[in-house]
Amino acid sequence: CGIVGYVGGQNALDVVIAGLKRLEYRGYDSAGVAVLADGGLASAKKAGKLANLEKELAERPLPSGTTGIGHTRWATHGGPTDANAHPHLDNAGRVAVVHNGIIENFAALRAELAERGHALTSETDTEVVAHLLAETYSSAGDLAEAMRQVCRRLEGAFTLVAVSADAPDVVVAARRNSPLVVGVGDGEAFLASDVAAFIAYTREAIELGQDQVVELRREGVTVTDFHGAPGTFREYHVDWDASAAEKGGYDYFMLKEIAEQPKAVADTLLGRIDGSGRLTLDEVRIEQSALREIDKIVIVACGTAFHAGMIAKYAIEHWTRVPCEVELASEFRYRDPILDQRSLVVAISQSGETMDTLMALRHAREQGSKVLAICNTNGSTIPRESDAVLYTHAGPEVAVASTKAFLTQLVACYLVALYLGQVRGTKWGDEIYTVIRELSDISKQVDQVLETMEPVRELARSLKDKDTVLFLGRHVGYPVALEGALKLKELAYMHAEGFAAGELKHGPIALIEEDLPVVVVVPSPRGRSVLHDKIVSNIQEIRARGARTIVIAEEGDEAVVPYADHLIRIPATPTLLQPLVATVPLQVFACELATARGNEVDQPRNLAKSVTVE
Ligand code: G6P
Repeated sequence: CGIVGYVGGQNALDVVIAGLKRLEYRGYDSAGVAVLADGGLASAKKAGKLANLEKELAERPLPSGTTGIGHTRWATHGGPTDANAHPHLDNAGRVAVVHNGIIENFAALRAELAERGHALTSETDTEVVAHLLAETYSSAGDLAEAMRQVCRRLEGAFTLVAVSADAPDVVVAARRNSPLVVGVGDGEAFLASDVAAFIAYTREAIELGQDQVVELRREGVTVTDFHGAPGTFREYHVDWDASAAEKGGYDYFMLKEIAEQPKAVADTLLGRIDGSGRLTLDEVRIEQSALREIDKIVIVACGTAFHAGMIAKYAIEHWTRVPCEVELASEFRYRDPILDQRSLVVAISQSGETMDTLMALRHAREQGSKVLAICNTNGSTIPRESDAVLYTHAGPEVAVASTKAFLTQLVACYLVALYLGQVRGTKWGDEIYTVIRELSDISKQVDQVLETMEPVRELARSLKDKDTVLFLGRHVGYPVALEGALKLKELAYMHAEGFAAGELKHGPIALIEEDLPVVVVVPSPRGRSVLHDKIVSNIQEIRARGARTIVIAEEGDEAVVPYADHLIRIPATPTLLQPLVATVPLQVFACELATARGNEVDQPRNLAKSVTVE
């Protein structure tokens, strides 16, 4: 989501709307503003793009004031409706809050507030904060102090920004694990999710630390921790232009989105694993008894999402022992698939609008099957037409080639597989709980991979004049190889193909010639070591025929060293989770090759982000 706050001498609404325009790429399913004026608080909000809100404001103007906040939303809790749009107000309409992130314990807080007589009108976790803040403010008497007290009660990741009609010329904000920067002007101050929102006004910025509360006044800015002790922060001068600023300083959205993956993965796990290490997927609104009855799972998806589905099949069959098929959505309904009430169809889609996937799910529902969507876009058509949905929390993905959405689709697929295992009680009980623990920590490993990507970029540049790159993998490494090849086709416009390494000898090995780059995804030598040994033989076979081997292998795997012309190390993970780390170098590789070949990275030729035709 995009957040803006302002206090100073200008018309706050103008500054806030201008800021939201620069942040619209962060979310665009609804927008809203609140300003302090004439001793009161006025607000407006509207579902849809910012333009809808601007139209509303033109028809019903707000009184003008010099303190205001605004929000452009990417829905997580609750669909993209007017009521769920931010800001959220308390019952008296004296406090307004905008929010980015997920408050994990909101259900408990909501119940508590309802008991004390608060009437909550939206489905959002944010409204809970508005009510809590108003209540706390009346006893604390100071908005920043009230915010600190409220934050101490919140679990999850959040940026919160609030104003109160009783605290003129003050904007208060808090930050935990979600972005928030402050802009310091002359007699005015700004807040935003990123500097793009305010660089038209000031280039002096403050990066807040974790768990801090900031109070903005015309005279200046005060930063504390959640307990009121002075906070430390970093001041800096912004020298990006507006377009670099919205890409977070990266040259392309794709690079920014690759870098956001650890957070996207962590956000997708947030609130879904309880303190005892069990999964709580309450949003999967299919009766547990029905989940126990399922005798077949069919995954339908397209493109990158299909590769996530292929990986899910390994996880689902292993952890649940329920037969699972994966099918390209475009093929599915035309071959008259066998489905009934005991089949669970899982439709994976970033956009939630892909026509092939939509048609497949409609066909499945006509046959009486239950459909579970895994989707990144709240309120889009696919989740709306499904029986249940598990949202990925990647945030908006702008680059056409999918990166962070893919990693979060994988996380969601693992969650579904583990959840089914948990509900149905399989013989892998212990393993399931170990994996849940390892999964809850995996974003650190994704981060670790990102830190070691320079040699991959260098290698990519050195291959810019090649015509073909092949990719090999086994087990879950096979779909990773397919995804690596797809990324290269999409971005570098090169001939790229992925194969199951075992199939090599049945045909593809004829393609191997002197200096042909072949990327091999190597499974962990621990766990299923037979797979590992087989792929090491495959590497030897292609190398003996002249291939230039680019080997992606776990740290400490020494067996591959003699046969790797280039070695890309990834951290050790459980076998089934390896795609979360093994895919990242392939994304970086494709992006760098595209750049080296002079291609348009964010909008490759002939492709669309969301394909709404069959
Ligand atoms: C398009 C995009 C791909 C994407 C596929 C499925 O072809 O270019 O990047 O993987 O659609 O999209 P979805 O939104 O359903 O995940």
